[in-house]
Amino acid sequence: MIKNKAEIEKMKIAGNLASKVLLMIEDHVKPGISTNELNDICHNYIVNELECIPAPLNYRGFPKSICTSINHQVCHGIPDERILKKKDIINIDITVIKDGYHGDTSKMFFVGKPSIQAKRLVDITYEALKIGIKTVKPGATLGDIGNNIQTFAEKNHCSIVREYCGHGIGKDFHEEPQILHYGEKGEGLKLKPGMTFTIEPMINFGKKDVKLLPDNWTVVTKDHSLSAQWEHTILVTNDGYEVLTKRPGEEI
Ligand code: MF3
Ligand code: CO
Ligand code: CO
Repeated sequence: MIKNKAEIEKMKIAGNLASKVLLMIEDHVKPGISTNELNDICHNYIVNELECIPAPLNYRGFPKSICTSINHQVCHGIPDERILKKKDIINIDITVIKDGYHGDTSKMFFVGKPSIQAKRLVDITYEALKIGIKTVKPGATLGDIGNNIQTFAEKNHCSIVREYCGHGIGKDFHEEPQILHYGEKGEGLKLKPGMTFTIEPMINFGKKDVKLLPDNWTVVTKDHSLSAQWEHTILVTNDGYEVLTKRPGEEI
């Protein structure tokens, strides 16, 4: 669970490369493009430009290189022929492997001008991620992270998805511990320098309940309300945290 100096160096490189994919794809997220096209652009960039492996491809049978989750889709949407249209919101989730180590990050994109509600949900979810990240320091607990995220989301009348969570990350895509986005202050594992994990809250505009589609991957809200997610890979440092997947201009 604790990474040594050499491993941390590799995690920093993998995290930075994952962040570059989200920067690259931004200009392509426009009305008229299909999620398959977004997948192919990311796949080629990851493989040919970054010389990385796209971790989702064939992971437990996942058929594509990225996840694309639109509107009421919560996570793990599979790229297909669907064409993006104005007012859609989409999460693009990127995980790359470089030199054996994983970097995992996702962000929301607006297709055209968003509705007021969509913008509000997306902003609240990003704020919730930042609140979770700012909780990270040696001695804080996993419950502190979850509680801070949950309290903020619920204060804003949104709900936290329970079935999916953040995760330790390193040589494996999903390692111990699980990082819940809800919980009680002071409970759970104490953070230690050298731990690397993701925080990736999924927040619904309506009720928290979700269901799995028959494709066995795509998770959607039961009430069909909009859902948003943002994700970063975090390192616990001696005095706080470092965001390994931070993009230029992000203030975290
Ligand atoms: N990137 C997702 C996460 O944040 C996991 C996707 S698994 C896949 O943990 F198989 F759907 F790609
Ligand atoms: Co993740
Ligand atoms: Co991810």
